[in-house]
Amino acid sequence: MKLALHGATGRMGLTIARLAVEAGDIQIVGAVTHPEDPALGRDVGELAGVGSLGVAAGASVPDALLGADVVIDFSLPPALPALLNAVMRAKVPVVLGTTGLTQQDIERLDAASKEIPLLWSQNMSVGVAVLAVLVREAVQRLGPAYDAEIVEIHHRRKVDSPSGTAKRLADAVVEARPEVKSLYERAGQVGPRTDEEMGVFAIRGGDVIGDHTVHLFGPGERLELTHRATNRDLFAHGALRAARWMVGRPPGRYSINDALGIT
Ligand SMILES: NC(=O)c1ccc[n+]([C@@H]2O[C@H](COP(=O)([O-])OP(=O)(O)OC[C@H]3O[C@@H](n4cnc5c(N)ncnc54)[C@H](OP(=O)(O)O)[C@@H]3O)[C@@H](O)[C@H]2O)c1
Repeated sequence: MKLALHGATGRMGLTIARLAVEAGDIQIVGAVTHPEDPALGRDVGELAGVGSLGVAAGASVPDALLGADVVIDFSLPPALPALLNAVMRAKVPVVLGTTGLTQQDIERLDAASKEIPLLWSQNMSVGVAVLAVLVREAVQRLGPAYDAEIVEIHHRRKVDSPSGTAKRLADAVVEARPEVKSLYERAGQVGPRTDEEMGVFAIRGGDVIGDHTVHLFGPGERLELTHRATNRDLFAHGALRAARWMVGRPPGRYSINDALGIT
């Protein structure tokens, strides 16, 4: 598989580069970063600690896509329009992991997926995909007498809040109970909790990779469904698995569950 990386010099980009080299059958053919990134022009393999790959981090998306079977993106939302234009022109499938997208960004993804295979997931881990299924099932079975609340913890450098994964788990609750609405703050005289509300709260600090707990509070008992990421490799493994699955698909919008075969 010939892979291009977008956001190649970031934490996730370099983790994917390392795991792609370790996989043995993936060739990195292009790498894109921000034009002002101090790592611009440096070899992605060297940055990832796996030796020179002969691929320098460049600032041109179209150049990086030349010869790629698939692109993996872990960058920042402002980078999205240029990336989508380039993958549509080159007709290359794309797997996107960037979080913090706006509604307008999501509409851009929908439009692009009419022309190319596109998979966007706010969490590429297999464990979170399974957790979302378990949450939906638990909420369905417990019914409206149980209050759902979500708490997530991330490292101090994370720029968006709540995390994409927290939103994904909130969606899983809403699939089972469509009347539920997320709220992101309780401060002041907010009154008692209503049946329809669901707090989704973020804690930030240190180097926590990502913890998520869905609390289900009932009369006299509570369930806590938790996922803890212990390193970034799990997201990279999921993204690479998704990328392999995307090669040769028809245009369309795919989910990580499609790629992982989880229903
Ligand atoms: N879906 C998942 O499973 C998952 C898991 C982990 C993280 N994420 C998300 O993935 C994204 C990246 O996370 P990270 O921890 O790797 O962050 P990071 O270390 O900040 O990496 C982001 C990279 O994208 C680069 N970039 C910024 N603007 C760009 C542009 N216009 N074109 C190309 N590259 C650009 C950044 O360059 P500069 O440093 O020069 O700005 C940086 O190298 C975040 O949105 C994060 O929330 C998703």
